[in-house]
Amino acid sequence: MPEEFYFAVSECVNLIGYSSRMKQIFNPHNRVFRRRCNGIGLVAALMTLVPGLFAEVPPSPGSQVVRLDTAHFGLVFLVGIDGRLYQQPVGDRGAKGKPPREDEAYPQAGDGYIWEPALQAVHADGNTSTALLFKDVTRTNETADCEVVRIKLCDPAYPFETTLCFRTHREQDVVEQWTEILHHESGAVTLERMASTALLLPATNIYLTHFFGGWAKEMLSPITEAITPGLKVLDSKLGTRAEQFRNSSFVLSLDGAPQENAGRVLAGSLAWSGSFQCAFEGFGSGVRALCGVNPFASAYHLEPGQVFTTPKMIWVWSANGLGDMSRKFHRWARDFGVRDGHKTRTVLLNNWETTGFNFDFNRITGFFDPAREIGAELFLLDDGWFGNKHPRLDTHAGLGDWEPNRQRLPGGLAPLAAEAGKRGLKFGIWLEPEMVNPQSELFERHPDWVIAQPKRKHELRREQMVLDLTRPAVREFEWQVISNTLGVPGISYAKWDCNRYLTQPGSSWLAPDRQSHLMTDYVNALYALMDKTAQTFPGTELMLCSGGGARADYGALKYFHEFWPSDNTDPVIRVPMQWDYSYFFPVLSLASHVTHWGERPLHFACSVAMSARFGMDLDLAKLSPEDKAVCAGAISAYKHIREVTLLGDLYRLETPHGTTRGALNFVAEDRARAVVFVFQLKDGEALPVRPQGLDPEKHYSIHELNPAPGRAALPQEGRTFTGTELMRDGVSPSCAKALEACVIELAPETK
Ligand code: DGJ
Repeated sequence: MPEEFYFAVSECVNLIGYSSRMKQIFNPHNRVFRRRCNGIGLVAALMTLVPGLFAEVPPSPGSQVVRLDTAHFGLVFLVGIDGRLYQQPVGDRGAKGKPPREDEAYPQAGDGYIWEPALQAVHADGNTSTALLFKDVTRTNETADCEVVRIKLCDPAYPFETTLCFRTHREQDVVEQWTEILHHESGAVTLERMASTALLLPATNIYLTHFFGGWAKEMLSPITEAITPGLKVLDSKLGTRAEQFRNSSFVLSLDGAPQENAGRVLAGSLAWSGSFQCAFEGFGSGVRALCGVNPFASAYHLEPGQVFTTPKMIWVWSANGLGDMSRKFHRWARDFGVRDGHKTRTVLLNNWETTGFNFDFNRITGFFDPAREIGAELFLLDDGWFGNKHPRLDTHAGLGDWEPNRQRLPGGLAPLAAEAGKRGLKFGIWLEPEMVNPQSELFERHPDWVIAQPKRKHELRREQMVLDLTRPAVREFEWQVISNTLGVPGISYAKWDCNRYLTQPGSSWLAPDRQSHLMTDYVNALYALMDKTAQTFPGTELMLCSGGGARADYGALKYFHEFWPSDNTDPVIRVPMQWDYSYFFPVLSLASHVTHWGERPLHFACSVAMSARFGMDLDLAKLSPEDKAVCAGAISAYKHIREVTLLGDLYRLETPHGTTRGALNFVAEDRARAVVFVFQLKDGEALPVRPQGLDPEKHYSIHELNPAPGRAALPQEGRTFTGTELMRDGVSPSCAKALEACVIELAPETK
């Protein structure tokens, strides 16, 4: 054939505008293309190449590699000879020849893959198989540190595509991963499974650390186990919340059980506040982590042209153990995971533990002067301020009727906020916009607004039901509740609670054949509401709460400043609980309040609360002068160190799990200051505690903050040491007996 012939054909293909892959095939210099044209003529050539028009015939093996890189972590994908996308197992540096089918990056059900799939779809024509072949990759630098990589995969037989999306944060070794699914078939495609991630790890020596809990025991039971052949599933089917029992954050370690300062670890955290599934499958030659929305009863009928976007999975890598991993996680969270992550947090006084539902205007304003005197900066009014026909006197009534109770608060919320303001206190309010008590005017007016199953007796939890956020009128109602309440002059803080999960997931708004959308659509509607709240009230601080700590996830947290880890504020419990949360969440997002839970010494309780976002839930007027002095001292110390504790780096030094004491320290970004916390859980010895992360060359002088009355001063009080000396020899705390604590500032040397 004359040379022009090949170029003409190639040009035609270009004009048609097919993919770069097509252009590669119809390249006039491509020997295969030329041979076919020569041998059998153009028509036949096109016939033999016709699958390529639609199928994106794959490049030759190894010809296409997609790499994602952060400073110390990387993911490597390659296109196989069959056109499918494969992943090199995390941490596996040895190059394989032809990757086995098990190594597929995002395996699909029904066309050869025999293990747990990432994607299971029923196409519009009823075909239950999907085959995804690599199409293209796009890369966008969002900032110098942050790149978005999108790998598009297409089914050769259907106009159905899946895009694997990644946002890499270079310095923090964080990869956010999610998946987008889109099709243009003749009708809806049913997604039975649609994982956010299907990350592949090597077969051996992989350990999983996960956390089990329950109300008042959230995150309290860390479990580390080897991943063996079979399927290990962590999940929740709770609908309105992700956590309570199992947590959607975990650690995979690649060198056996994880250690604090050594070994390769990969933390995963699913940013989703509803039913989730994290499944870990050992299939002999590898381990796969499949995480995303829980496929249980959640089939999604995706309409043509509609995009299904999965929740984001956050992966954080370290080759130096859990400590380094969580410091990176915290830095990412302060930048992207929580609101105002570079601002310190106020000292908060809450009334819930003191009054429960039993208060009125005078009782609440009576808390303000003692609050101001002791140094508090914000007062939070909890549950019980609303409901008139059905006053909210206990959990039985009032939810849904968000007008202030006229007897308790005759002037509404504004006069309360104004009284707080007069004393220099900010004012915050509790809300639970998603819920309704059957004993409420709202339920009387709209009994069909609740999530319930037809023909079944309503199952109440905490005497309440969940409003159906898939219904537009409910969305509007909840927005009115939020905007009216947060719009009250003087309100600058809100606690958004969620005290029940779904047990009868039925919607009278969704069509009978769309009931399985409820779990997903609820959470997405909730996020839209949270987003609108954050956008409309940018100066209002928000606390995420869910009957304790059942909403501890980055899906919701990005609209909030902090979350409530647990109703259990017993400091003996909080020490290990906050330790476990700190693997994934920075302490500026962990609300920690001093209460009488456990009846522990207030000095111990204050010291524990000072190691996170400090608050109090005490009747200050009833404290003894000694206890009041301890609390005032703690508040003043917290204000002195919060730049370091809330914005600095955390080093977990001595685990409180099953030991006599727990210890940790924080180091300021410039490493000029540090704070060491020692919590004595059982009687022991005042052995030196060795801080980490100090500048070896710098000099630090030692001061105990808010020392407990009657205890001998620190042996090294007022002395100065270099960072090297302190990290090597340690500092001796003033505590040795059970329920004693010691907070030590390592301050810059004063010349
Ligand atoms: C559950 C929360 O966890 C508590 O702190 C408190 O706000 C109650 N709800 C109020 O009903």
